[in-house]
Amino acid sequence: MSSKPLISFETLAEGHPYFFDTEDAPDWNVEFGNNRPIHLEIGFGTGNFLIEMAVREPQCNFVGMDFYHKGIRRVVTRVDKLLIKNIRIVYGDAREKVPALFKDGQLGGAFINFPDPWPKKRHAKRRLLKPQFIRTLSEKLVPGGIVRVATDDEPYAMEMLSYFEGEPSLKNKIAPAVFAENREDTPRTKYEKYFINAGEKIYYLDFIKE
Ligand SMILES: C[S@@+](CC[C@H](N)C(=O)[O-])C[C@H]1O[C@@H](n2cnc3c(N)ncnc32)[C@H](O)[C@@H]1O
Repeated sequence: MSSKPLISFETLAEGHPYFFDTEDAPDWNVEFGNNRPIHLEIGFGTGNFLIEMAVREPQCNFVGMDFYHKGIRRVVTRVDKLLIKNIRIVYGDAREKVPALFKDGQLGGAFINFPDPWPKKRHAKRRLLKPQFIRTLSEKLVPGGIVRVATDDEPYAMEMLSYFEGEPSLKNKIAPAVFAENREDTPRTKYEKYFINAGEKIYYLDFIKE
């Protein structure tokens, strides 16, 4: 049997100037060539939301973070084809990369659309949005910056709501302890379209950094 890895890093997006597989914080203003607000999307999946946001909001910069190889290749290919200048892709686990790659107060906003719900009880500890990570995300936000989350998974939604409400530096944009009913001001993600078409309820959370 060959010892060659199934997917080699050389074939991911290594060498592409918009792709970052690094432990060290880049100087984002240099990388983007400007000091416009940076919005982070964690877990962009196939990247539709990230690309559409970047096209809609050319006055902002977007960093997408994921470890899904196929999605990364897809986004990099589309960024090249569409000549998009305001997207950068970070490879890796957000739990390590968010603290390492951004300074406190550096993010204008953060999106986490349909984080993996890990529905089995014994797997629930693998969920991304835990109090410690929510605190880290909040530290990276500029005052007034918003963290926006969407999920179809009710138990995870309830858990996240209680954790976000428990973070003193964040305030529920809608009202204490409630979900936003819908979200009309952003593009629909692949998962969002799927669950809406299936008639599922979506839970939206919008929390502002105070
Ligand atoms: C259920 S998919 C949702 C994809 C997309 N946001 C959507 O709504 O269509 C979750 C995505 O999060 C990524 N992901 C899961 N855990 C992550 C982590 N710790 N750091 C970065 N990305 C993560 C997965 O690779 C996957 O692409």
